[in-house]
Amino acid sequence: MPKPKILVARAIFPEVIARLEKHFEVDSNQADKLLGKPELIARLQGKVGVFTTGSERIDADVLAACPDLKICANMAVGYNNFDVAAMSAAGVLATNAPDVLTETTADFGFALLMATARRVTESEHYLRAGQWTKWSFDMFAGSDIHGSTLGIIGMGRIGQGIAKRGAHGFGMNVIYHNRSKLDASLEAACKARYVGKEELLRTADHVVLVVPYSAASHHTIGAAELALMKPTANLINIARGGIVDDAALAVALRERRIAAAGLDVFEGEPKVHPDLLTVPNVVLTPHIASATVPTRLAMANLASDNLIGYLEQNKPVTPLNAAELAAKNLAK
Ligand code: DGY
Repeated sequence: MPKPKILVARAIFPEVIARLEKHFEVDSNQADKLLGKPELIARLQGKVGVFTTGSERIDADVLAACPDLKICANMAVGYNNFDVAAMSAAGVLATNAPDVLTETTADFGFALLMATARRVTESEHYLRAGQWTKWSFDMFAGSDIHGSTLGIIGMGRIGQGIAKRGAHGFGMNVIYHNRSKLDASLEAACKARYVGKEELLRTADHVVLVVPYSAASHHTIGAAELALMKPTANLINIARGGIVDDAALAVALRERRIAAAGLDVFEGEPKVHPDLLTVPNVVLTPHIASATVPTRLAMANLASDNLIGYLEQNKPVTPLNAAELAAKNLAK
């Protein structure tokens, strides 16, 4: 009996490829060449499953051109690279990789917050450039983290992890805004208080964005929202590019309308708005919030569990549209 064929669309851990090869005939892109839509469609011919990362867009065109496809397993918790409605209509299962990256990503949110508030990268560049000749009272004076007000927009699992770190580790006053208020026990565990978005922006010393990207969350922070923030406040985006209007942010940073920003994600990444590269008061990292070896391995294994579970036993671990497929009796 020939094994079912799958595509692994980007380079991943060799041991994960070896694991998948026990179950499938694997076409793997270990050369890690980014596949444009025509190449992706060509490589997907005859494949029943695809292991994707956030960089492969699965839309109606791809689905129409790849009729054998049954499952797309994303090695990411975010899945804005999937048109889930089109996948449901085509009878294709979508899965993501939640939970396994929560604490690692919350750690990084805090790392970026601290680097931004305490001007870590800006001062390192100064030192490396040989500009440090003497101590001075206000050299790279930043803002405090302990005892300050932390405002979190998007209070899912990662937002809650950041709230706990802030409240319990640094004695921060934590406020949050979310589509829905958390239940009282979760609010108590996070020591967090629900507020409106405007109040959060006006009062937080550090605003952290952890909201998923969708048409509704596009430019959650634009010029109007930046204008509400305190001139001493910092903005941290570990969510997705497009949540912040990067051009408006660059203007606010240059004009010191807010103190600083820490950005792990960018509109149109891996391109970065050129104005963000020239302002000093921003910490820039290349979408690495979940990047520790154990967590990236766990994410890759969860994507693999979904492929194996669904294609062998019709039992995906973390499906996104199983109910839609079942309701329409559409699963292939
Ligand atoms: C995710 O899992 O969504 C992270 O952004 C890594 O891509």
